[in-house]
Amino acid sequence: MKDFPKLKEKTILAPMAGITDRAFRELCKNYGCGFSYTEMVSANALARSNKAAEILLKKADDECNIGLQLFGQNTENFVKSIKKYQKDFSLIDINFGCPAKEIINQGAGAALLARKNKIKEIIEDCVNASDIPVTAKIRSGLDDKKINFLEIGKIIENAGASAITLHPRTIKQAYSGKSNWNHIKQLKEELNIPIIGNGDINQPEDAERMLKETKCDYVMIGRASRGNPRIFKEIEDYLKTRKYALSSEKDRVSQLFEYLKLEEKYSGDFSNIKTNAMYFTKGIKKGSLIRAEITRAKTIQEIKNIFIKIKI
Ligand SMILES: Cc1cc2nc3c(=O)[nH]c(=O)nc-3n(C[C@H](O)[C@H](O)[C@H](O)COP(=O)(O)O)c2cc1C
Repeated sequence: MKDFPKLKEKTILAPMAGITDRAFRELCKNYGCGFSYTEMVSANALARSNKAAEILLKKADDECNIGLQLFGQNTENFVKSIKKYQKDFSLIDINFGCPAKEIINQGAGAALLARKNKIKEIIEDCVNASDIPVTAKIRSGLDDKKINFLEIGKIIENAGASAITLHPRTIKQAYSGKSNWNHIKQLKEELNIPIIGNGDINQPEDAERMLKETKCDYVMIGRASRGNPRIFKEIEDYLKTRKYALSSEKDRVSQLFEYLKLEEKYSGDFSNIKTNAMYFTKGIKKGSLIRAEITRAKTIQEIKNIFIKIKI
């Protein structure tokens, strides 16, 4: 079994489709994030060298500490994708956690939590095909009557995976309710490989509490990083000194400009850029007005002009 990389920082950026492109990952890295993943990429599409899927594999300048996250249901296509593309990445992560209808309907993502033999086959074959560590991202189960993260976790570990990320909600819950951190604690107690805890870390105090309560090895932050890449620095500062500084409105706008500059450098997808830009305006005066203007913007410069005009 290949070891999960030893990271200096405790924080990991969650894979988020439409959000964690290379510009956003570079931004988070600049603010102290220790590790990140590509957006989930279809193994079926990569196996046939689909150009749109290959765009998602592009890395930022000098980017290291990055996992390639694959979703799918066809073991052969996972293996093909790994053989073709692994050389550019630190590890391969298999998505057994996505609850989106279009993914579940193709038998991929969290749908596989109902097929433990298939999970075993996928992980075993991926581990055999891979020169780098293979990890998995899972949910707690299908619904609250079919909680099976412990059974699935053990299968994944025994199949040779190097770490597991648990987002402790069920498929049925999607993103509603609260994530059950007790599941992360149980998984950590039962398994020997590193466990990455994920779900509802909104501020540094949450990260510290998850690490303390669950003893997980790393914490993964998703939604709270949207519009606030500095959350990684806030967490690292808080873990070391029990203090952290929150971003002012001015800081947020300057982080947005930093983000837009990176998107310009990497020619990111404009509709994703607009969605992402809106998150930086959360809590800012006249935020809803600004968001309406962002919706109408046609270029990155037009987004910038909105902020230049109101002089935040
Ligand atoms: C817009 C969006 C896109 C996501 N895309 C992915 C994905 O591509 N792969 C994945 O494993 N999880 C994906 N997730 C789930 C997150 O990685 C994470 O597990 C979830 O948001 C819970 O963490 P949080 O409470 O810190 O946001 C996505 C979540 C959001 C909100």
